[in-house]
Amino acid sequence: MADLDDLREGTDYSGPAAAATDFPLKGQSGQDWGMRARLSRVFDPADGKTVMLAFDHGYFQGPTSGLERLDRSILPLVPQADALMCTRGALRTTIPPQNGKGIVLRASGGPSVLKELSDEETAVAIDDAVRLDAAALAVQVFVGGEHETKSVKNLTTLVDQGQRTGIPVLAVTAVGRDMVRDARYFRLATRISAELGAAFVKTYYVEDGFETVTSACPVPIVIAGGKKVEEEEALRVAYQAIQEGAAGVDMGRNVFQSEHPAAMLAAVRGVVHDGLTPAEAFDLFETLSH
Ligand code: 5RP
Repeated sequence: MADLDDLREGTDYSGPAAAATDFPLKGQSGQDWGMRARLSRVFDPADGKTVMLAFDHGYFQGPTSGLERLDRSILPLVPQADALMCTRGALRTTIPPQNGKGIVLRASGGPSVLKELSDEETAVAIDDAVRLDAAALAVQVFVGGEHETKSVKNLTTLVDQGQRTGIPVLAVTAVGRDMVRDARYFRLATRISAELGAAFVKTYYVEDGFETVTSACPVPIVIAGGKKVEEEEALRVAYQAIQEGAAGVDMGRNVFQSEHPAAMLAAVRGVVHDGLTPAEAFDLFETLSH
């Protein structure tokens, strides 16, 4: 029987209502509670920024350099990331469930590097994403690609499923080899993705006009690191992107293909979360590497 002794009537009702807290992510205030809670596992609520560690490359590249052994290369880096972008195979086989990070689950796939990459399908059922406690779903969008409409349909299908279950969708703008990577293209691709329901969009940094890409996109933008370059250059690109309106980075090869991945990840965090200049961040990288 419930304990009904000493039930006390409440008396403390005075004082102003607690101030409403604004949700810090661009364009996301109108989302439901579960969606915002999941986004808060990807973007640090303290500054609305994120350092995502991307290691989903195997879904079309197989064991590329730096990802031959996820248990050796990626596991030691997990504590330093805000969020992990990976496939469900990598998650179930390699990442411990007590990692405490937002999981951005690769949710499209199909063709390997041997085939036409834009010919993707959705690759995860929404109930499996729920079972895996995904904080977001990631889908490739090939604007201008051979299978443009199909990839956009993958996005809208996942957005519909995500809205039903409270899981936000990250649209990854994928650029074909022979397509021009300029601000005009990325304005088009990121805006289409956001208009069709992506909660955040991943794109590449461009030197000319990147601020027009971030300002025309009504949701947060994170940048891919792209192919491996010198650490100093990758830190400069991350810095420029943040200065020009990006909400973070989703970096893979420039971390796990570095000779000192943990030092590189710490330096990237310095740029994104602590406002380090590229020179300060590179100093940090060098200090931690030796
Ligand atoms: C695959 C992806 C990758 O996760 C992404 O491109 C990885 O980042 P990086 O370019 O920094 O290696 O989305 O298409």
